[in-house]
Amino acid sequence: MSTEDQSADLPDDFYEKIHAKLQQRIYEELRGASDVVDIGCGDCGLARYLVAADEGWRVTGVDSGAAKIAETEEAVAASDGCLRCIEGDAAHLDFLADAVVEAAVMTRALHEMDEPAEVLAEVRRVLRPGGKLLIVDFPRDSLAQRLWDEDYFTPDEVEAMLRTAGYGEVAVSLIERGQIIWATGLNLSG
Ligand SMILES: C[S@@+](CC[C@H](N)C(=O)[O-])C[C@H]1O[C@@H](n2cnc3c(N)ncnc32)[C@H](O)[C@@H]1O
Repeated sequence: MSTEDQSADLPDDFYEKIHAKLQQRIYEELRGASDVVDIGCGDCGLARYLVAADEGWRVTGVDSGAAKIAETEEAVAASDGCLRCIEGDAAHLDFLADAVVEAAVMTRALHEMDEPAEVLAEVRRVLRPGGKLLIVDFPRDSLAQRLWDEDYFTPDEVEAMLRTAGYGEVAVSLIERGQIIWATGLNLSG
């Protein structure tokens, strides 16, 4: 898959402009899953969106940043048990038993993980058979690279990591003018 920089004519606020559309797309992709874990959830913005969008979502956000998790307290308290946000390392989801969630999502987080392979394996452990992981991240050589210059993966690298971690029906594409990696894989074991 080409990772050639297609961002030259994009405005610097491109990602802000597509934020709402992406949230809606994530909602559509995960719709039907009742128990969802949001890995590297930050302030749980996506988890709050999902819980508010429809009845029936139960979302657990996990983030290693204590300050981010602290920001979610009010929303968690008001969520009637639909939202919980936990401080922890995604490579060790010790508070979750095997095969308990129907879907997992990681937005803009995979590239920040110190141990991405361990995280993907650990997420598969907690997914029920048939459960889906959705990864949404910036690709290498994208507008994000120009704006923030972090170590992003290529789509091929994400695909290889998902396969190595044991996911099946892996599908990886570039969306939004090549500026976002959209990757899914299923836990087919069990
Ligand atoms: C760029 S932020 C994205 C937050 C949110 N998903 C979003 O899209 O707004 C990446 C987050 O991943 C978290 N993170 C990095 N490594 C982590 C790990 N090993 N376990 C849990 N969270 C981690 C960081 O604390 C940070 O909040």
